[in-house]
Amino acid sequence: MNKLVVSLLLSLGVAGAATAAQPVKGDAAAGQAKTAVCGACHNPDGNSLAPNFPKLAGQGQRYLEKQMHDIKSGKRVVLEMTGMLAGFNDQDLADIAAYFASQKGSVGAADPTLVERGRALFNGGDLDKGMPACTGCHSPDGAGIALAGFPHLSGQHAQYVSKQLTDFREGNRTNDGDAMTMRTIAGKLSNHDIEALASYIQGLH
Ligand code: HEC
Ligand code: HEC
Repeated sequence: MNKLVVSLLLSLGVAGAATAAQPVKGDAAAGQAKTAVCGACHNPDGNSLAPNFPKLAGQGQRYLEKQMHDIKSGKRVVLEMTGMLAGFNDQDLADIAAYFASQKGSVGAADPTLVERGRALFNGGDLDKGMPACTGCHSPDGAGIALAGFPHLSGQHAQYVSKQLTDFREGNRTNDGDAMTMRTIAGKLSNHDIEALASYIQGLH
């Protein structure tokens, strides 16, 4: 991580939050057996085929676990999943997270007309707007930083990514913590920026 990102993390309090809770140890094989209902939308191996359903395959375990807790508690609203996680305890969610984290994520393609703009923003941020590069937390190849809970982005469906960035910007997704890291960053993105970043991320690997 470069200096700018480290100081940003410290000033936002992200580094502290990321080291707070020790995750429950998950068992991937036990997790697979609990994902029958998930496959309809996310595909059995987590490489969802529909562009509005996120790919879970290869996603970081810690991030997956946090999202499931947030969805279960209603902190992150996913209407399509209403009630689906209610029967799972912390161990079940850790197992499911371990299963999807152990699968290999697939990659899509970027729109050639958007790729330059997307790459520039992803790797360089936007100095004029004070927006940091995405690479500091999501890494240059989009792999994320699993242990810190920074999500893996590479290959994710552009339509899903675009919706998340718009939801963060408009305050419709608010589970990025008190530091509001992603809400602050997305607040600096235009619709065109979001479109370019989402397309770049879909083809990134
Ligand atoms: C009816 C379709 C559907 C089913 C079934 C479903 N999901 Fe989802 N899931 C979604 C949608 C849609 C989203 C993203 C919503 C949004 O745009 O924020 C999502 C988001 C998620 C996320 C967050 C991903 C991310 O990158 O942040 C996780 C984790 C997840 N689902 C796990 C599961 C698990 C585990 C199951 C099975 C117990 C499941 N889902 C069943 C539709 C579904
Ligand atoms: C300071 C660290 C940091 C930087 C810089 C950063 N992110 Fe994030 N991002 C995060 C964290 C942490 C989350 C997870 C928030 C949560 O727990 O819900 C996240 C979540 C996301 C998500 C949602 C992933 C999913 O599966 O739903 C997307 C998309 C995303 N970031 C894109 C970007 C883009 C594009 C940039 C650059 C313009 C960027 N991020 C810059 C830390 C960062």
